Amino acid sequence: MSVSRRSFVGGLAAALGYLGIHPDTDVLAQARNQAPGASPRPSVPMNDYDAMAHLSSNENCWGPPDSVMKAMNSAWKYANRYGYPDGNLVGEIAKHHGVKPENILLGAGSGEILDVVGTTFLLGGKKVLGVEPTYSTVYQHATSIKTSAIKLPLNKDYTQNIASMIKAANDHASEIGLVYLCNPNNPTGLIVTKDEVKQLLDGLPKGMPVLIDEAYHHFVEDPRYATSVPYVIEGRPVIIARTFSKIAALAGMRLGYAIASAETIQKMRPYSMGSINALVKWGGVTALKDTASQADVKKKTLDLRKKTTGELQAYGYECIPSETNFFMVEIGREIQPVIQEFAQKKVAVGRPFPPMTKHMRVSVGTADEMDRFTKAFKEIFPAKTRTTAGV
Ligand SMILES: Cc1ncc(COP(=O)(O)O)c(C=O)c1O
Repeated sequence: MSVSRRSFVGGLAAALGYLGIHPDTDVLAQARNQAPGASPRPSVPMNDYDAMAHLSSNENCWGPPDSVMKAMNSAWKYANRYGYPDGNLVGEIAKHHGVKPENILLGAGSGEILDVVGTTFLLGGKKVLGVEPTYSTVYQHATSIKTSAIKLPLNKDYTQNIASMIKAANDHASEIGLVYLCNPNNPTGLIVTKDEVKQLLDGLPKGMPVLIDEAYHHFVEDPRYATSVPYVIEGRPVIIARTFSKIAALAGMRLGYAIASAETIQKMRPYSMGSINALVKWGGVTALKDTASQADVKKKTLDLRKKTTGELQAYGYECIPSETNFFMVEIGREIQPVIQEFAQKKVAVGRPFPPMTKHMRVSVGTADEMDRFTKAFKEIFPAKTRTTAGV
């Protein structure tokens, strides 16, 4: 989509918002398909795709378990249909979280949910408040609908500064349409504790919507973390985004969802595409129930993350203590050329996350991929004597 077309669609959406009109789904469908809402993916040359170690997009390297493959394969018979049995996916998700079906909105990945929430609360020029770096889809979406983000720096230890978020939200209350909190945060892998989430929700102006992105929820071990779903049930203006792309390994199949009050879901619904395919609907139902496979993915992922970060620390490079399926290592030089150096060794690592451009984000892959990564790291970087304590 050309910049001028992008501006046209964004401008149209904003204009309709100013007029208090919720544009119909077709208009926004076009915007969503073609606008720059999706987060930038590092470009891996496709002819090299299978040869690369894929450590750049926080995917699940093991793929869906047999139970989910079987469920998806049995849904091919609906490939030619529009309305068809879908395993009661919405009902099953609602049951899983102890909410009602009217509290759930499905998206083609949680990326779509982030866009839909952005459109719902920012259209007409309201701003999104959050930290930087974080998962920037909502910020990009804000730009595409002609508004912007108020971005706050992280603390020195890379945690999110809740006090400054509360202050900014109160100081700029009339400008802000939405607060975005990624928990755990991408790219740092750090959590916001349950006490801090409560502090934030208690400190924000009354009624200010908060989007809490729990894409990496299933990987957390730290007992100070908790899901924020209970706040939805309590009636706070909180929207939770969840995805089947990470723990459930369905990134390529596109399935995510929002949990929010029935009223909020109703406001969001006109902006959603409803373009979820039959296979992933059935796969999603099974994935929710296959907790043994999820536990297996979590264990394998965390074991490999701990092994790899241990090796890097022993080699003299500090890693931020992640609670996710990826981690950041401090490399002490600009990341962009380093990404190329790794690519030449057939290892794809994460993109730059300004202002943390001297850190590298690495997704956890298979044991073989992590060995290839560590070997490449040691070829690219010299061993260092550690002088600072880890954060
Ligand atoms: C924090 C966060 N939220 C949302 C997403 C979007 O994932 P998907 O659209 O595949 O559900 C990602 C993907 O990497 C992410 O890291």
